[in-house]
Amino acid sequence: MSVGNNQSSPDEIPEALRDVTPVPETKRSRLWLLLGSGLGLSLLVAIAGGYLWDQNSEPNVTSAPQSEESVSDSPEKESAIAEENQENSSSPKSLSSLDKTSANTETSKELLGHLPYQQAPAETLTALTADGRIKLRTPAAKAFLEMQAAARRDGVSLVPLSGFRSVEEQEYLFFGIKAKRGQVTTERAEVSAPPGYSEHHTGYAIDIGDGNAPATHVKKSFAKTEAFRWLKENAPRYSFELSFPKDHEEIGYEPWHWRYVGNKSSLETFYQDKQS
Ligand code: DAL
Ligand code: ZN
Repeated sequence: MSVGNNQSSPDEIPEALRDVTPVPETKRSRLWLLLGSGLGLSLLVAIAGGYLWDQNSEPNVTSAPQSEESVSDSPEKESAIAEENQENSSSPKSLSSLDKTSANTETSKELLGHLPYQQAPAETLTALTADGRIKLRTPAAKAFLEMQAAARRDGVSLVPLSGFRSVEEQEYLFFGIKAKRGQVTTERAEVSAPPGYSEHHTGYAIDIGDGNAPATHVKKSFAKTEAFRWLKENAPRYSFELSFPKDHEEIGYEPWHWRYVGNKSSLETFYQDKQS
């Protein structure tokens, strides 16, 4: 079999290497050329093979760059690395969202429609009245007294009826009054928060009455008083807002119950991680 007759064959080089039949001079020189190329290639393969063998025999330090290179050449391994990287980069995110989930669960788990609140430390409170019985957190107390003075100038009497309440006090308001009135739990919860779940614990909430209409104190009819009309128009100037407006789903309308939202702490208390 001659090389020249099979030049276009893909098996050309291996067959030429095996062929011992004499060939014409011109073709012979081509054969030498091919033989030379073949030998050169074999030599290169042998050198590279020896190099790789050397690399494999030093598994630790020197094989590291080699294996990195070969990994990036393999689509399967590349996608495995991509997945691993993704997993690694998403790990802290997963952890932080887990933290957030548990924080949410802890801070916004409601009971009978009421959200949980921390009791304000005693040293953060300031009295609103001379007898010291009604207190609010200091910034809220200052804002209320300013608001009360402004209302007075307009001929309106704003009376503080209830401010900060401890969990213990709320215990009586919920269970004590419930027992006295013979109310069922859900009925009591419509007007009173269970202990640990009242905005009054925060020191930022206040029940306000009209000094000229005491019969409306802590009643829905307070919404018809001059005091309420004045509050609706002016309370935002002093950073007070209604906690339970007419459309409040769980609690219902409490026109007398206002809360201070004029600093970072009060905003976080009422708006962070809360669902209603
Ligand atoms: N009346 C409101 C819901 C309270 O008891 O805090
Ligand atoms: Zn209240």
